[in-house]
Amino acid sequence: MSDITTVILAAGNSTRFKASKSKLVYPLCGLPIVSHIFNIAKKISGKNILVVSNEKNKEELKLILNTSKLVVQKKQKGTADAIEQVKKYVKSKNILILFGDTPLVEVKDIRKLVSKFKKSKAKASLIAFNTSEPHGYGRLLLNNNYVEEIIEQINLKPEQKKINLCNSGILIANTKLLFDNLKNIKENKIKKERYLPDICKIFSKKNIPINYIECNKETMLGINTLDDFNVVQNILQKKYVKNFIKNGVNFLKPNTCYLSYDTKIEPTVTIESNVTIKEKTIIKKGSIIKSNSYLEEVTIDENSHIGPSARLRPKTKIGKKSKIGNFVEIKNSKIGNNVSIAHLSYVGDSEIGNNVNIGAGTITCNYDGKKKHKTIIKDNVFIGSNTSLIAPVVIESKSRIGAGSVITKNIPKNSLAIERSALKILRNKRSK
Ligand code: UD1
Ligand code: CA
Repeated sequence: MSDITTVILAAGNSTRFKASKSKLVYPLCGLPIVSHIFNIAKKISGKNILVVSNEKNKEELKLILNTSKLVVQKKQKGTADAIEQVKKYVKSKNILILFGDTPLVEVKDIRKLVSKFKKSKAKASLIAFNTSEPHGYGRLLLNNNYVEEIIEQINLKPEQKKINLCNSGILIANTKLLFDNLKNIKENKIKKERYLPDICKIFSKKNIPINYIECNKETMLGINTLDDFNVVQNILQKKYVKNFIKNGVNFLKPNTCYLSYDTKIEPTVTIESNVTIKEKTIIKKGSIIKSNSYLEEVTIDENSHIGPSARLRPKTKIGKKSKIGNFVEIKNSKIGNNVSIAHLSYVGDSEIGNNVNIGAGTITCNYDGKKKHKTIIKDNVFIGSNTSLIAPVVIESKSRIGAGSVITKNIPKNSLAIERSALKILRNKRSK
């Protein structure tokens, strides 16, 4: 929609969030809060997006959003002041304003808003929602279905506290009319900030109509505190799980798992309880992720079994029909098909071929105190339990390593390597 510029307000100080950084860069299901809304904005106005940032966060926001269209609001003097900063950059007929801290917003609702705005004679339209917990939100005062005024929480008279119709913060307006009237917004006496929603009163006094649409409250929640953050994250988690279940993924105890915004799970996968899946993870058909497993940036091919209690760290690939069992940690490694690493192992910076068995307690000793080194294990190798593989090292195909060995040299094809001191059996002199 080329006649719309979207402005995302992201310059607030996040005081109520009580974190060291802006709440907007905080990862929500693995993606910064502000990126959730930025992705929505892209679907509405393509590259025509401006982000208002404070001085402190501008570089981080630029990086996260991969945009140079950032405008700095030097002092946080409120949402009206934030919008004023973009005045000279908005060339389109209409302006759409989104708040960086409402990440659950859906594109379809914004499209509905735009459509209502364009079809009506209103010069501004906003999204409102009804909630039984309106505390903290601006409340709408209506006149014949048009918005007459929005009153912020701190200015509510006691009887107005019962109003359940709230301002979501999402507003579309005629650019010229908005900026012409913005300067008339006065500073709020209590907070010393200039409030954008005050534009409603100014418009309605001049008989400029503002209408609204009502959307589901769950999609309009704003994140001000860590408590809000948790509520929003839980809603997103439920949404992800619901979608996967609809597509044929079986969760044994869905409410105990954590998924990321980009998690990909194919149909017929089973996810047991307490499974954490961080970003960039793909799980293919038929695989089972057993309880208490922790997966980060991994791809698991078809029909493999992971866990219980396995830890798969970034840049790990597991092939088909492989088995990674309890207390196994794998990092930056490629594991082939039909591999079994069933108990108590650490595999790091390794390449393991097909049909390999890694015995319990096997460790790849990849770090010499200065550098990381690679372990290569070719096809059809059998590693006995409690083996230490001192990297860099290559175990060629069809070789066997005896249990308890410390392997410091490359092992050629078809060999049996054992490194163990000879077992002595002495007479027990103490025995009677
Ligand atoms: C705001 C609205 C309220 C609405 C609610 C919906 C105002 C005054 N109130 O309240 O009517 O119900 O959102 O979630 O607008 N920001 C800046 N510069 C500033 C101040 C804020 O860029 O000087 C940004 C913040 O980063 C945030 C957004 O504007 O993304 C909203 O600010 P916030 O302080 O969270 O407003 P609320 O009190 O939630
Ligand atoms: Ca807010």
